[in-house]
Amino acid sequence: MKIFIDTANIDMIKEVNSWGILDGVTTNPSLIAKEKTDLRTCVKKISEIVDGPISAEAISMDAEAMVKEGRSLSKIHPNINVKLPMCIEAMKATNVLASEGIAVNMTLIFSPQQALLAAKAGARYVSPFVGRLDDIGQVGSEMLAQIVAVFRNYDFDTEIIAASIRHPVHAFEAAALGCDIATIPYDVLKKMVAHPKTDEGIKLFLADHEKSKK
Ligand code: G3P
Repeated sequence: MKIFIDTANIDMIKEVNSWGILDGVTTNPSLIAKEKTDLRTCVKKISEIVDGPISAEAISMDAEAMVKEGRSLSKIHPNINVKLPMCIEAMKATNVLASEGIAVNMTLIFSPQQALLAAKAGARYVSPFVGRLDDIGQVGSEMLAQIVAVFRNYDFDTEIIAASIRHPVHAFEAAALGCDIATIPYDVLKKMVAHPKTDEGIKLFLADHEKSKK
């Protein structure tokens, strides 16, 4: 499974990139606002750090404007893909952008039906939001499993990005189900590294090493 970081924070991106595990980056308007930056400056900076797909979300709400915005965003760097929110206007725009070779990440996916339509419209990626389904008492990982099953049935090229990952179990579920990508926040990535038995083991080895010197 490819690992993307879900942030617009440049320091976090640099840090995780240095771990040697980073395949791409996703941003959204909320993440950009949190960093008090603007989308174009931010994704340009990210493209200088990470050699992989970078999602930049359009804010237009009709197909024509989405296409215009998508074309402009895609010109920032060849690795930029255009994030569009799942809706009819976005499907129309995806159809046009895909025919021009511009990758679309269809976001705010909450059902296998939406993922199927996004893939058929030509989306390069679909982003099902796992945590936000859990938030309303539904099981996000079940939706992921359904999308994986549908895409396998028909051999779609569209890649599944498990998004709205809130804790390490979500990341594990995405990998166990065979999602192509999980986009994971920095704090969750750090939690995935850690294990109390690892910390305990390191302490013990270091203490024993000290003893052996005496
Ligand atoms: O990038 C979109 C998604 O990952 C947002 O996650 O935690 O705001 O639901 P969250």
